Amino acid sequence: MIRRLAAAAGAAIVGAALWWRKNPSACPYSQRFWVEAPHPFITRERLREILEPRAGERVLEIGPGTGYYALPVSGWLEPGGRLDVLDVQQEMLDHTLERAGKQGIDNIVPTLADARSLPFAKDTFDAAYLITVLGEIPDQGAALRELRRVVKPAGRIVVGELFGDPHMVTHAALRNRATASGLRVERKLGGRLWHFTRLQPA
Ligand SMILES: C[S@@+](CC[C@H](N)C(=O)[O-])C[C@H]1O[C@@H](n2cnc3c(N)ncnc32)[C@H](O)[C@@H]1O
Repeated sequence: MIRRLAAAAGAAIVGAALWWRKNPSACPYSQRFWVEAPHPFITRERLREILEPRAGERVLEIGPGTGYYALPVSGWLEPGGRLDVLDVQQEMLDHTLERAGKQGIDNIVPTLADARSLPFAKDTFDAAYLITVLGEIPDQGAALRELRRVVKPAGRIVVGELFGDPHMVTHAALRNRATASGLRVERKLGGRLWHFTRLQPA
């Protein structure tokens, strides 16, 4: 009986994971505990190592959630830099900005929009990043093409992914989608369980 129950639970989990993978959608604000938990492997320090943010730069984060990366990144751009955070959910932006306000951070600028159609001019940003976000976007190619457009030709685009996320985009899948979107892999940290991949216009 217990074995049958365990097998049924396992099948349900695999089924749900497959369904989520085929039906990408934004992690709802009501389930934000997932993004507030510690992020093993895809740490802020590793993001800093691969993104190489510099003082005075203008950087874009797609899908900040509740600000896990946005708050430290905004500090790495000081003095004079600015972090734009863009999300499809106003609650995520409000949450991030509220946390920033409490910490006296004033260089984060929110935009409510979809990553598939970025409301920014060509070559606006020095760099951009999105972490455990790409797999939630129904048309990943469109998002990558938009990032290529709004990031400067010598800019950096960092994609972070973690095993266990039902929407995880593997490094191999990302490489293919990036190539098709006019980007090339410049650097990578991690392996099969997690990766930070840095892309650049090809
Ligand atoms: C799993 S959360 C990750 C949050 C944060 N990057 C982190 O790792 O803590 C995904 C975030 O991406 C946002 N998102 C999903 N699809 C999006 C889209 N098409 N355009 C912009 N943001 C999107 C969600 O609203 C959510 O804030």
